[in-house]
Order: sequence, then C-alpha cells, then structure tokens
Amino acid sequence: MRLDIEVLRQTIMEAIEKAGDPEALEEVRRRYLGRKGELTMALRALGELPPPERPRVGERLNALKVEVEEALTRKGETLARAMEEARLMAERVDVLLPGRRPRLGYGHPIRLVWDEIEEIFLGMGFTIAEGPEIELDRYNFEALNFPPEHPARDMQDSFYITSTVLLRTHTSPVQVRTMEALRPAPIRIIAPGRVYRRDAPDASHSLLFHQVEGLVVDEGITFADLKGTLVAFARAMFGSEREVSFRPSFFPFTEPSAEVYISCSCGKGGCRVCKGSGWLEILGAGAVHPNVLAVSGYDPERFTGFAFGMGVERIALLKYGIEDMRLLFENDLRFLAQFAAEGR
Ligand code: DAH
Repeated sequence: MRLDIEVLRQTIMEAIEKAGDPEALEEVRRRYLGRKGELTMALRALGELPPPERPRVGERLNALKVEVEEALTRKGETLARAMEEARLMAERVDVLLPGRRPRLGYGHPIRLVWDEIEEIFLGMGFTIAEGPEIELDRYNFEALNFPPEHPARDMQDSFYITSTVLLRTHTSPVQVRTMEALRPAPIRIIAPGRVYRRDAPDASHSLLFHQVEGLVVDEGITFADLKGTLVAFARAMFGSEREVSFRPSFFPFTEPSAEVYISCSCGKGGCRVCKGSGWLEILGAGAVHPNVLAVSGYDPERFTGFAFGMGVERIALLKYGIEDMRLLFENDLRFLAQFAAEGR
C-alpha cells in the first residue's frame, strides 16, 4: 500500500504537470478527485483495511489529497497567467509603427483652373453670378441678338428639350439675366458654369464643357477697359511675360468683337501647340451690343459695357500643356494625380 500511494502520487503530479490548458487540468481533477476519482475511491475504501493500518494510510491519503488540491490550484494559476500573457502578446500594439497614410484627394484640373479664374476676377472687384443650365431659347439666343436663322440655333448644334427650351450652349445668357435682375448699373460679374453642345467629341470638343462669362456695364465703359481687364487676366493666368493680342472677330451680342490671343510659350518660334503661329486663342470678347443692352432694360444711349467668354477646358489645356481634352473627362487617376500639387 505504501508503494501504491507513492506511485499514485507521482502519476497524479505528472498528469497535473502535463495539463496544457484549464480543460485538461479539470479533467485531471475529475479523474482523481471527482466523485468516482481514484483518490476519492481510495479514501472511501479505507474502511476495508485492517483496523491497525487505517490511521496511517488514512493520514497519508489525506495528506496526498491536500497536496494534489494545492498542486491543482497552483497549476490553474500558472495556466491562467500564461493564457493572459498570450492574449496580451496577441493584442500587442506597436505604438511606434508608422500610421497608414489616408490617400488625400485633390482638385481636378478643370476645378483648379475654374478656381483660379474666379480668384483673378474676384481680385479685380468682380462678383459671381449664376444662371440655369436648362435655358430658354429667348435668353440663349434671342436676347443675345442671334438672328432667327443663325446656324448656332440649328438642332445640329444645340440640345433642344422643346422648341423653346434647350441646354444652354454658352454662359452668355447669364449676361441678360444679370442685367434684368441688377439695376441700376454698375454691373461687374463673372458667370462660370456648364454648357452643352451637340459636337462629336474629339481632342478639342466635348458635349459638356465649362465656360466663364464676364460682363461689365456702366456709364462710360470703353473698349480700353476691356483691354486692360483682359490683359491683366491673361498675365495673371499665364505669366507676365506673355504678350496679349486683340484681333477683330464677330459675335452677334458684341460690337465691336474681338478674339484674344496670348503668345505661345514656345516664344513665337512656332510649335505643335500653336501650330507654328506663335499665338494661342484664349477667349472671345467685345463691347456689349446696343440691342442686348436695350432688351435687358438698359438705355444704350447712356450705358455701355464689355463682355467676354472663355472655355475653362481650353484654358486648362493651354496652361498645363494637355494635348487632348478627352483626358479631362476620362478621370484616369494616373493623369489626374499629376495635378495633386497644383492649387495647394
Ligand atoms: N458665348 C461665346 C461662345 O460660346 C463666347 C463669348 C464671346 C462670350 C464673346 C462673350 C463675348 O461674352 O463677348 O463661344
């Protein structure tokens, strides 16, 4: 019996030592100290021993029971500590690990140029006006002195919704809407916005594009005011080294009318961008036609004005040396990312 107890002790201690997790340890407890556990059964069998042996064996078995209970408790604590440590290791946060940088957005080149145009004119005292993209023929053409048979009114060029309503083909109708709404003069506004034309898209045409209209009306406004304003704009936009040239042109709503050019960055030596001419057209302009002033409620004998209109995409192509307008609408991030540093 003496040897048996010692063997039992070693077996139990080994089993406790080997238990790798709380479940295995609980299994050991059940096996030896459970209701039908080996040690429990041995204690219960004490009565079957010859009376003289009982106290000694009983003492030893009880001592073993206490020892086993203590070993189980200790092992349980060790396992709990190890598991807690493993959990902490798994959840460890490296506070010195560099963060994941969120990818920052940036302005689209059309937006960058739009903003820059606005800033330049706001700096000269202009304010911003708006008009609807779905426009009446009356504002888009009629009030702007387009004759009824003018080719621009053709269904081929404009998106008509009904016979009198269309998607505006330019921002010039905002001139008339502004004069109707703002009285008396002076008026000094720019009107940026979307315009629509029924063109086949190519390197320099798009169904939808953007324009910035300008309008100044007051007593005593002359063509010199137009020239001064637009030279200041062109230099601010493209650089003070650029030359600016005004050439006679025609628009129904201005008289006289001009096309405005800047010298090409090739230094007028001639390149692919300026097609060898040395000059780049940037906008149309002119003195507001007396008929336009009159239909908008301004007496052309008393008031004069000038107007201008430019394509935002065209300015962007020239400013950034982009060769194909379609790049501006494809939204390929490899293209757009090149403008990330602009306008910051
Ligand atoms: N509206 C013209 C266009 O779409 C551009 C333009 C030319 C606007 C001359 C003007 C101007 O205000 O004076 O092509």
